[in-house]
Amino acid sequence: MNGLRKCGNVDEKGLFYRDTWAEVDLDSIESNVRRIRTLLPEKVDIIAVVKANAYGHGDIKIANAAIRAGATMLAVAFLDEGLSLRRKGVSVPILVLGASRAEDVNVAANENITLTVFQESWIEQAAAVLLPGKELSLHIKVDSGMGRLGVRSEEELQSMEARLKDDPRFRLTGMFTHFATADELDGHYFQKQQARFEKMISVLTTKPACIHTSNSAAALRYPGAYFSAVRLGIAMYGLAPSFEIKPSLPVELTEAFSLHSRLTQVKKLQKGDKVSYGATYEAASDEWIGTMPIGYADGWLRRLQGQEVLINGIRVPIVGRICMDQCMVRLPGEVPVGSAVTLIGKQQEERISIDEIAAKLETINYEVPCLISSRVPRVYKKDGKIVALNNPILKGDCPS
Ligand SMILES: Cc1ncc(COP(=O)(O)O)c(C=O)c1O
Repeated sequence: MNGLRKCGNVDEKGLFYRDTWAEVDLDSIESNVRRIRTLLPEKVDIIAVVKANAYGHGDIKIANAAIRAGATMLAVAFLDEGLSLRRKGVSVPILVLGASRAEDVNVAANENITLTVFQESWIEQAAAVLLPGKELSLHIKVDSGMGRLGVRSEEELQSMEARLKDDPRFRLTGMFTHFATADELDGHYFQKQQARFEKMISVLTTKPACIHTSNSAAALRYPGAYFSAVRLGIAMYGLAPSFEIKPSLPVELTEAFSLHSRLTQVKKLQKGDKVSYGATYEAASDEWIGTMPIGYADGWLRRLQGQEVLINGIRVPIVGRICMDQCMVRLPGEVPVGSAVTLIGKQQEERISIDEIAAKLETINYEVPCLISSRVPRVYKKDGKIVALNNPILKGDCPS
């Protein structure tokens, strides 16, 4: 029996009907933010980066947890993500880090969402469509060496500042840049970017109120780069920004995301029997095989064939090809149908970390929770109890 079906008013209607789900521990999010807060001077604000549905964790729940823990602003990648948060009741300032279309400035102004501007021509286009009487808050993005978005020349920056000052509909409230190598041990390129950014700030006639450069790695490692706020993403979710700096983090971080399933069938195969598409796996002897309802359409990618999962606190390998909705594991013996499977997280004394899955996928930990698709319901816990869940297949957040 799925314990999640007995969680009082949250889930009494049975809000998901497949035994595969992700759990997000909101206490971990809060404690990660609070621990990082202790490193920062009081006047430095925390901008919680909740783009990409809060790195796959769920935008509104993470936003609220971060705000409870002291974040004063949220950052997203696109205007749609900011609107999603406003529609779910968020009232704190929201900054769109990425490019927004100039023709959408009235939408941003109506919802009090701050946009990023990184080239002068955009200001002209925005000025042509922004309705009289509207106010649009803007942060200027400087490209100090990331080579992605941002103004690079001092002349263009000065001219942008003058153009914005000239039009009462624009409010220049911030300026920022993004580091390319803050998570690497070698600090040379980081220092170069910081120096370039400082030079760019120096050409402004008026410094905007909110100046920010640091992502998680810089916030954890470079107090000299704090300015007025830091942008916390990966560390808030309890993950190290890179394998390189993981051993030297100044605070403990706790992973908030875990992934779970249950065995739907357990069967004994004879020596020589095959498993899954292509019949690539062959039982070397009589073997117990378990099937679980998670596959590549859930973001549990085919490359995870061979990855271990936890059943009864023991590591067991995924065998045969991972299918779209299911995959199989080799069991040490017969176990009951319905047995809990932990794919990411702790079970008894064993743990499978997001970093372990990232290593198997030959990628970075950022990608892992982002990959777990919206088909997998997110269950939110506080004080060890379920407080909310989200199953986008059937409906949105419930309760909000
Ligand atoms: C512009 C910008 N700022 C901040 C962040 C947060 O970075 P991190 O998750 O490493 O803290 C990101 C993430 O990609 C970003 O693109």
